Amino acid sequence: MKRILLVATVATFTMGFAQADGAADYANGGCVGCHGATGISTIPTYPNLAGQNAAYTAKQLKDFRTGARKDPTMNAMAAMIIGKEQSIADFLAAQK
Ligand code: HEC
Repeated sequence: MKRILLVATVATFTMGFAQADGAADYANGGCVGCHGATGISTIPTYPNLAGQNAAYTAKQLKDFRTGARKDPTMNAMAAMIIGKEQSIADFLAAQK
């Protein structure tokens, strides 16, 4: 069931956005639950990512992965999207 939902979510993203790969990478990465489908978080302690400069976002994701920036949650999440930092950052930069 969870898998079906995920596939449906990814399909929706792929059809709905020009930056299809980044959208799928973002959805597949499990980011949506905390940062929202388009990078607008519904939980105040989770940062909004929509419209952020892509270079900044990509750097944060790499820093979370290497541990240069420390946050237990994001250190774990960044390890799941290795190589997809830039596509996700580009997708988020294009959101409003
Ligand atoms: C369990 C909730 C959770 C999940 C899942 C999650 N994040 Fe985060 N994210 C956070 C929190 C909390 C922070 C703030 C960390 C801090 O205080 O340094 C954060 C910070 C970030 C930042 C830095 C924002 C800034 O303004 O510096 C980026 C970029 C980011 N997350 C991207 C992602 C991506 C991409 C994914 C999916 C691979 C993801 N997050 C999954 C909770 C989450």
